[in-house]
Order: sequence, then structure tokens, then C-alpha cells
Amino acid sequence: MLDEVEKIRRVIGGAIAAAAAQADLEALRVDALGRKGRLTELMKGLGRLPPEQRRQAGATLNALKDELTAAIEARAKALAASELTRRLDAERVDVTLPVRPQPEGRIHPISQTIDEMVAIFGEMGFKVAEGPDIEDDFHNFTALNIPPEHPARQSHDTFYLAGDGAAAPKLLRTHTSPVQIRTMKAEKPPIRIIVPGRTYRVDYDATHSPNFHQVEGLVVDTTTHMGHLKGCLVEFVRAFFDVADLPVRFRPSYFPFTEPSAEMDIGCSRAGGELKLGAGGDWLEILGCGMVHPKVLANCGIDPAEYQGFAFGMGIERAAMLKYGIPDLRTFYEADLRWLKHYGFLPLEMPSMVGGLAR
Ligand code: PHE
Repeated sequence: MLDEVEKIRRVIGGAIAAAAAQADLEALRVDALGRKGRLTELMKGLGRLPPEQRRQAGATLNALKDELTAAIEARAKALAASELTRRLDAERVDVTLPVRPQPEGRIHPISQTIDEMVAIFGEMGFKVAEGPDIEDDFHNFTALNIPPEHPARQSHDTFYLAGDGAAAPKLLRTHTSPVQIRTMKAEKPPIRIIVPGRTYRVDYDATHSPNFHQVEGLVVDTTTHMGHLKGCLVEFVRAFFDVADLPVRFRPSYFPFTEPSAEMDIGCSRAGGELKLGAGGDWLEILGCGMVHPKVLANCGIDPAEYQGFAFGMGIERAAMLKYGIPDLRTFYEADLRWLKHYGFLPLEMPSMVGGLAR
């Protein structure tokens, strides 16, 4: 038996000292001390020994049992400690590093301006709606009270797509107003949406691009009136341009889909050839607006005797140029990385009314 004890001490003891994982240790424990373990079997045999040998042998076996148990415990502790060290090493964080490296990319001023407009109108309870760039005559013109042969169609310089000759050709939407129609046909009032998106007109010079962007606004409810339109838009321009007392004026205008219609100007000064927004005696046109024409409501299945609404539309590039002092419209589309580095915005600075818009 003593041979066997020595063997267990050597083999199992050695394996415990060399164990690389907790699972190996457990296997060794079962092998020696488990219900059918090698040491356990020896202990079971003690009863068969004469009493005087039994005491001696029992003490030897117990000592080995204590020895192996202690060795397993010690090895388990050592393994846990080295595992912790390994993880601490692997997951080391240098808290003295700057928060993040500066990202290379920039948010384009058009995207930034849309995000800012969405943040401001979102705070006022507007939802964002969208519609297709490729429109049909009905949504872009007819439903907006611009019937065939209406002179307003000429001013829109429309891109028409090649048709099949049978149906009226599709077109690239000339404004975001067709989304008014799509929304009013699909939803019941109260409606409160803004629609940022791409628009197209056959026009190209220093101040016109064949593809540009607009944001449309539409509110329809039972009591909506011109006062709501003014309050909403005055609030908007003051938040957007971050000028609390920005002067605003409304000039009578004409759009077939609004009645009455107006254009909104914001105050500025051009003293010394430099454009500055704010009180200064001069004016800049910023958007078109008006009360939704009763015929437009009716075209969408909304009863004009029960509902009324206001709408507005504004050019996003123009608003961005005025706010950020970007002098040339064409640079928006040139994909010039140096321009984007200069006029673009950091991706982590998402505009919000609580977190702040860009200045
Ligand atoms: N759709 C008009 C344009 O493109 C702008 C507008 C929208 C005017 C809504 C009034 C109401 O010029």
C-alpha cells in the first residue's frame, strides 16, 4: 500500500502542480479523491487491515488526502491570479489618451442643415416625411392646383423622363410640395410634417443648380391659421440662425397651392460689402409660404370646410450659405475634400435643440 501511496503522491501531485486550467484540477481531484478515486479506494480497504496496521495506514492516507487537497487549492488560487493578470494586461486602457482621434470624414453642410432643421421642427412636434424624387404630373402639379397650361409650370423648368408615349411622362420633382399631396392622401389630420429632400430644375448658373434641396412644411388642423404660420416660421428662423431678435417680414406673393401666399424675408445689413444677419435695414428672401389652398385640400379628400392648414417651402443650400457664409452654390456639389474639411461638420456633433445647433 505504501507503494501505491507514493505513486499517487508523485503522479497526481505532479499533475496538480502542472495543471493549466481549473477544469484539469477538478479532473485530478475526482481521479484521486472522488467517490471512486484512487485514494478513496485505498481508504475503503482500511477496514480489512488488522487494527494496529489500520491506525498507521489511516494516518498516512489522511495525510496524503490533506496534502492533495491543499495542493489543489493552492494551484487553483495561482491559476485564478494569473488569469486576472492576463486579463488586466489584455484589457489595459490608457486613460491618459485623448478621447478619440479626430475622424477624417465630415458631415456635408447640406446634411448638417437638414439635421438642424429637423431638430428645430422636431421640437415643435413636426414629423419627417419623405417622397420619391421621380414624380408624376398629378402629384407635382395637378393636385397642387397647377393644371395643364398653367403659366406656373413654365417657371418650374421640369426635367421629364422618357415615357412610353401612352401615359404622361414621369418627371423629376421640381419641389418638395408633392409630398404634401402624398401625406394628405395617406393620413388624417391633424398633420404636422416637414419634408427634406432633393429637387430638380433645368437651371444652371452661379446661383442655380439642376439638383438642389428643399425642405417643405405642412400643418393641417381644424383651427390652423395665418398666425400659426407666422409664429412657427419666426420661431424657426430665429433658432436656425441663432439671432434672437432677427427681424422678419412677410410680403404678399403667389403660389397656386396656397391662398393667401407670402414670401418671408429676414433682416440683414450689407454695410461695407459684408453680409450680416440681423437688424440692418436690408432684407433677404428666405422662403415661400401660405395657407393651403382649399382646392388642394379637396384634391386630397380633406374637407376644406372643416380643415385648414399652412405650408412652406425653403431652399436648403440657400439657408446653409447664409448661415455658414458659403459664397458659391456650385461648391456644394464639387466633392472637394479641402472644401469639405473647411465647411463640413464633425460626425459626433449631432445638432439638437438641447445639445445645441452648430454656430
Ligand atoms: N414649392 C414652392 C417652391 O418651390 C415653395 C412653397 C412651398 C410655397 C409651400 C408655399 C408653400 O417655390
